[in-house]
Amino acid sequence: MVTSDQRLHRVVYTSRLCEDQADVEDQVVARIVDSARRNNPRRGVTGVLVHGKGAFAQVLEGRPLVVRGLLTVIQRDTRHTDMRVVKVDVVEDRIFPSWSMALLRDLDEVPAEFAAGNASLLMLMRLRTLLHTGELGA
Ligand SMILES: Cc1cc2nc3c(=O)[nH]c(=O)nc-3n(C[C@H](O)[C@H](O)[C@H](O)COP(=O)(O)O)c2cc1C
Repeated sequence: MVTSDQRLHRVVYTSRLCEDQADVEDQVVARIVDSARRNNPRRGVTGVLVHGKGAFAQVLEGRPLVVRGLLTVIQRDTRHTDMRVVKVDVVEDRIFPSWSMALLRDLDEVPAEFAAGNASLLMLMRLRTLLHTGELGA
């Protein structure tokens, strides 16, 4: 049985890079991922960040309060705007258990680690659809 202590939240959101950051998109993304990989392990947060052409889609997985706190921090980040939470699920298992924050460019090939026909590959496909259409899909 899953007690409330073991609950995880999985949040999916989208946002857009601020226009004044467009020239330095790659550096901005590198800094964001540095922060995530530094901070997320001690918070028990895992996930993936997909970006391309000034748009972000991110999955954050972790304890509900931790994820909510991190979302507040991220929302205040002036490097991006138009943050829109697309989905919040209460889940028992992580899709990205071994990633403090995986990074994927929109058009990159999906790394072999994800190509096992598993939930992480499916989620990456859905995030790409989300980036392009604004809809997460089934
Ligand atoms: C799209 C986006 C995603 C982010 N994801 C994370 C994240 O997963 N973890 C994190 O600690 N910071 C993330 N950040 C950065 C935070 O907004 C914030 O700058 C950072 O947590 C500050 O911590 P630091 O001073 O240790 O870098 C993200 C920012 C953006 C714009």
